[in-house]
Amino acid sequence: MLKAKKDFERNASLRKHKRGIALSEILQHFKDYSFTVVVVVALRMTSLQIPEHVVLNETVRMQCNFNLDKEQLYSVKWYKDGHEFYRFTPRDRPEVLMFPVRGVNVNRFQSNRTLVVLNNVNLTSSGRYRCEVSGEAPAFETVSDHGDMTVVVLPNEGPQITGGRSKYQLDDVVRMDCTSAPSKPHALLSWFINDEPADTDYLIGPDIVMDENGLDIAKLGLEFRVGNKHFRQGDMKLKCLATIATVYKQSNEESVVGDESVLKTSIMESRETRAQSHTREDLANVKRKFNRRKNCLRPVVILYIFTIFPRTFSSTFHTLANLFKFLRYA
Ligand SMILES: *[C@@H]1O[C@H](CO)[C@@H](O)[C@H](O)[C@H]1NC(C)=O
Ligand SMILES: *[C@@H]1O[C@H](CO)[C@@H](O)[C@H](O)[C@H]1NC(C)=O
Ligand SMILES: *[C@@H]1O[C@H](CO)[C@@H](O)[C@H](O)[C@H]1NC(C)=O
Repeated sequence: MLKAKKDFERNASLRKHKRGIALSEILQHFKDYSFTVVVVVALRMTSLQIPEHVVLNETVRMQCNFNLDKEQLYSVKWYKDGHEFYRFTPRDRPEVLMFPVRGVNVNRFQSNRTLVVLNNVNLTSSGRYRCEVSGEAPAFETVSDHGDMTVVVLPNEGPQITGGRSKYQLDDVVRMDCTSAPSKPHALLSWFINDEPADTDYLIGPDIVMDENGLDIAKLGLEFRVGNKHFRQGDMKLKCLATIATVYKQSNEESVVGDESVLKTSIMESRETRAQSHTREDLANVKRKFNRRKNCLRPVVILYIFTIFPRTFSSTFHTLANLFKFLRYA
């Protein structure tokens, strides 16, 4: 390879001395030459694994796999938003150099030539991460690739529905708000009436406001005049769904009735659902988070027992009291 380069340079300069040489001709030779290099020394990046979404405080592993072929490794360098934070040079002492970069907290002991481990990511850790691998002199072949990572702060509870009544009649106006708990990025909210997406004409907002910790609170209003089409067998189910990328999905549901039935004055259901579709990695990322979230299912259980097994008057009264307490709270 070196010989080829020397030959090329000598030939070029000889020819230049003899009769001058067209620039395009040199470029043509140069192109042939670099083609040869690619074939002989094939330093390749085989995969770069950077998670797209991670949860606050998580430990993140970023993997940079490469194939040296006949090259010797000179360095592996990691950058965040263009700033180098980790350098692995097996021939230097020390092998590892680390540079302070905002939001990057490298675990030196778990990181090595193909892996960097970041401890306790926070919002400032979001950004573009690049891995750059270089071969030894004289070629210093370099390959690099990047991936974007976003740190997500999940809401600590499901979306809350406010402003609803337990009973509506035809021509009444339904006016409710759905508000997500603080998160980053903000949750995407949507309303469903009897499990179908609400008409966009019914929606007010969304409004996004920032709380004192820099997290976003989303609010989406629902307003419409009640018609026959909104009831299914006398019931109307109103659901608000909050999602964040593929890592978070939770809904809250409210059922109202259109008839005079005493037993079924109202049923409110608050339930949590886990994301239906996400990568294994994303699921692993949020698993602990979900486990820690407080359980909102209790009101449903109370109500269902009440509906299915109406017991003595006093226990019915007690349940109703609970129900109203819950309704007021919600
Ligand atoms: C994240 O870590 C910080 C301190 O390191 C702590 O104050 C905060 O409560 C943690 N947040 C979560 C959601 O675990
Ligand atoms: C985020 O983490 C970095 C270290 O990785 C730390 O220096 C910084 O104070 C943290 N920021 C917040 C807001 O916690
Ligand atoms: C880097 O460390 C990980 C675990 O800490 C290990 O599985 C992997 O084999 C190491 N890679 C190299 C090239 O040493």
